[in-house]
Formats: sequence, structure tokens, C-alpha cells
Amino acid sequence: MIKFKEEIINLLKPFVNIDKSLIENPPNAEFGDYSIPCFRFSKEFKEDPKKIASDLAEKLVLNKFFENVKNIGAYLNFFVNREELIKNNLCEIFKRKEDYGSQTIGKGKTIIIDFSSPNIAKPFGIAHLRSTVIGNALYHILSKLGYRIIKINHLGDWGTQFGKLMVAFDEWGDDDKLKDNAIDYLVKIYIKFGKKAKENPGLDEKARESFKNLEKGSSKEVKYWKHFRDLSLNEFCKYYDRLNISFDYFQGESFYNDKLTDTIDFLKDNIQTEISDNALIIKLEDKKIKTPMIIQKSDGASTYHTRDIAAALYRIKEYNPDKILYVVGAPQKLHFKQLFTLLGMIGYDENRFIHIEFGTMTYEGVMMSTREGNFIHLSDVIDKAIKTVREIIEEKNPDLPEKEKIAEQIGIGAIIFGDLSNDRTNDIEFSWEKALDFKGETAPYIQYTHARICSILRKTEDSISNEIDFSIFKEDIEFELSKILGEFSTIVEKAALEYKPHIIATFLIELSQTFNKFYNSCNILKEYKDLRKGRLLLAECTRIILKNGLSLLGIKAPENM
Ligand code: ARG
Repeated sequence: MIKFKEEIINLLKPFVNIDKSLIENPPNAEFGDYSIPCFRFSKEFKEDPKKIASDLAEKLVLNKFFENVKNIGAYLNFFVNREELIKNNLCEIFKRKEDYGSQTIGKGKTIIIDFSSPNIAKPFGIAHLRSTVIGNALYHILSKLGYRIIKINHLGDWGTQFGKLMVAFDEWGDDDKLKDNAIDYLVKIYIKFGKKAKENPGLDEKARESFKNLEKGSSKEVKYWKHFRDLSLNEFCKYYDRLNISFDYFQGESFYNDKLTDTIDFLKDNIQTEISDNALIIKLEDKKIKTPMIIQKSDGASTYHTRDIAAALYRIKEYNPDKILYVVGAPQKLHFKQLFTLLGMIGYDENRFIHIEFGTMTYEGVMMSTREGNFIHLSDVIDKAIKTVREIIEEKNPDLPEKEKIAEQIGIGAIIFGDLSNDRTNDIEFSWEKALDFKGETAPYIQYTHARICSILRKTEDSISNEIDFSIFKEDIEFELSKILGEFSTIVEKAALEYKPHIIATFLIELSQTFNKFYNSCNILKEYKDLRKGRLLLAECTRIILKNGLSLLGIKAPENM
């Protein structure tokens, strides 16, 4: 926690106990540096909040960290000793470096993050990209708080659609074409199947048969399925490599196939199941959910639900997590509501399961979807980003060393940040112009600010140290920048508690803007020695936090741009 907030809590202790969340950052300097609304205490003191604020202002005995305290209306406003704050924040950041912001709140606790989870034999869609990027950021953020994180990719690699695919491939498949471009080809024959099945319903029957054989483990079907899965996974892993994302387990839906019978028996024994139209269902009307869950279809096949129940039971038994986060788009809200309600009926605490939902995203008005015609490939999105950055570099800084690597880091950063800078629950419209604007609220802007600081630090012969005279800082902007830097740990904690990476993204933009304001109004390298050393320390601390913050979002911070 921020030292100064801790001090405020201690100063107030003889009069009232407060939690740090009550301490606000006032809108402008007139109201001090930290303030406390006193409305909340009026019940306890049976007094008018204004009077409480003014009494407290009178009674408080300040220590060296504060210069003044006064009330404005019902607010109690603290004015810090600026030199102390700058010293405290810069020393701590400089000493802890990339570890700054780490906490131990999560120590000894495990969180499973189920994310990305694309469907095999289908293109990697935009919802999967969103899930991948958000899930990965949550992994970094929660790790920073000390949680042990288990990253699971719940691949969509099972289900009746594979029956159709196997029949289609058996009828019209061409191995060479498959090897050339697996996913596109599989989509093509899948669509062909749909068309042909309309004329010939016998095909659907064959497909059902085929999936049943797969569930039973028949060698022909298993061989096909494994082949489709390997080829698809191979393509997905190329994306994960480029995005720098890894998983602890690829435990897809198929992983639970041999656990489904036990799961169904367990449900039958423990909660009320019913047969409806020959299917096994669980009604949730008592729990105010109208749609029942289908656990087993009339032909005996399992469902997406069954496999998710089996997965939850397996994960609890195997990893004993405190929480399981499912990073999946908002359209699956009902599915997860049903799933969590059912897990509650079995006896688990429903709060252990969290649906990290997110809105839809369109790329310049086009949805990335599996439907024919309007599909954008993720590889095209990545290539386009990198190509555009390459062109900007050629124009602005053609002699940049390691151009290709840096273009990749900036292009990918722009895509990730274009997503993470929005509250995940919002629907967003991705725009290239916006995402790649080096001066806008973008990753390239933050990366550029970081690279600019690296370049300043490269130019000096001074060693950077925190053994400096802190009284040399006289400018408001130096204080403002130091204060924001110190907010980083609170920001990380807030982002973790709300599972919202955009809180960090917004902070990094504000920090970059504040640094650039400082840089535009204050000299660094041309100053006399003491001030130069002070400002270099300020720049170094900004560099540490920018790099640290970007890494929590899964974005690289190149030193040169
Ligand atoms: N494969 C699913 C889809 O694309 C997402 C799976 C999410 N995870 C889960 N445990 N259901 O819609």
C-alpha cells in the first residue's frame, strides 16, 4: 500500500478507523493530495459530517509526512510534504525495480484461468483472441499479487460436429489439400457437408454414428480426429508463439471423455435429474433459471455442459483452486450461470467460479466470424499491424537496429492494447488508425515514451542513484509524476480485484502523458549535476513502471524505437 495512505490511517486511528479504500485522490491541488469524505462517520459520531471534518482537522497531530490538513466542507484534505513523498516513492521503486508492485495477498492460493480455448477445425476467431489477451493479462496481474496461476486451454476438440467432419472428409477429403492449409480446408468441407446433408439426410445419421464411434474410441474415427486436432493445434500454437503466450495444460473437451460416465452417474446420484424426450436433463427452475441443462442427448452423446461439469470436478479434485476464472464472451452467460448454479447444488461455493465475460469486437466494422464470407484471419490482422509499423519505421527511423523485431513488438502491442484499453465488458470497434497512433492512447505511445527514456539514460555518464538531495525538486510536475508513480501498486491491486486489465492500461497512458509533460517543460541532461541526477532518477523510475506495467498486459517494451 502507498506509504502515505498508511500514514493517514495511523494518524486517524485515535479518532476513527478507516480503510484505505476511503482515501480519495482529490480532483485538484486546492483540495490537497489525499482526501477523506466524512459523510460516512456521521452515524458513528451522531454529528454533521462538516463538523466532523473540521473537528478532525483541528485535532490531528501531523508527522513529517504532512504539511497541512484542513477541511473543505465535509472533506478532510491532507497536504503532503512533497519532498518526503518524492523521496519515499522514488527510493522504493528504484530499490525494488521490476518487483515493485508485487504483493503477497495471493500467497498460498491457486487460481485456474480457463482462457483462449478455440475450437479445432475452425478458424481462430476474434472472441478467442479477446479471451487469449484478457486471460493472459489476468495471469500476469494475479501472479503479481502472489497467486499461483494454472493456465488451462479448454480446447473445443469434442462434440457432434466432429462426426460431420469425419464423414465429410471420408466422402470428399483430400489429404494434400488438408496439409496445405488445414483449418481453411476443414471449414470448406464442413460447409459442404451442411449443404449436402440438406439433400441427403442419411449423411446426418452417418455423422451421428461416427461421433458415437469416436466417443467409444473406434480406431478409424480416433485417427481422423487426432489428425484434425494436431493440425489445428499446430496453427493455434503459431499464434500463441507470436503473442508470447503459453499454457500449463491443453486440456480440451476431449480430455474429459473418459470421465463423462462417472460424471453423469455422480449427477444422477446427487441431484435430481429427469428424462425429457429421451434426453437426460437437469431442471433449474427452482433456481430461477428457465432453461434446463441437457446432460446427455437422446442418442447418448454428451454435451458442452456435461464436459464443463466434468472439467470443473476434475480441476477441483486435481488442483484444489480457490477460484476458477472462465474468460469467455458474454454470449455464453447463460451457460456459465447454469454451470455455476449446478456446482452450487452439488455443494460447492458458487463464488469459487467466475465468468470473466467480455463484449464483442469488430475490426473496422467487420466481425471476425466463422460464417462464410466475412471472415478475417488472425494472421492477417497480425501481419497488417506489423506491416503498418514497418512502414512507419521506414519513414521515421530507417536506421533503427533490429527493425523487424521491434516492428513485431509494436504491432502486436498495438493489437493487445487496442483490446485491453477498453473495459472488457464493453463492445468495441477496433480501428487501425486509433491502435497505431503513436501520439494517441495506444501501446505505441507508451512504448515510445519508454524508449525515449531509455535513450536519455543511454546518453548520460552519470550513474543513477537514489542517494541524492531530494530538496532540489521544486516543480509541480516533478511532484505530480512522483505521486502517480507511487499509485502503481494500488492500481495493480484494483485491476486484480475487479479482473479488469484496462485499469492498468488507463494508468499507463496517464503516466506516459505526465512524463511527457515533465519532459517538455524540464531539462534533464542539460541541468547542473544535482538536479540532473534527481531528474534522471525520476526518469529511471518512470521507465521501470512503464516496462513493468506493459509486461502485466503481455506487451513488450523495446528500448529503441
Ligand atoms: N470453445 C469454446 C468456444 O469457443 C470456449 C470454451 C470456454 N471454456 C469453457 N470451459 N467452456 O465457445
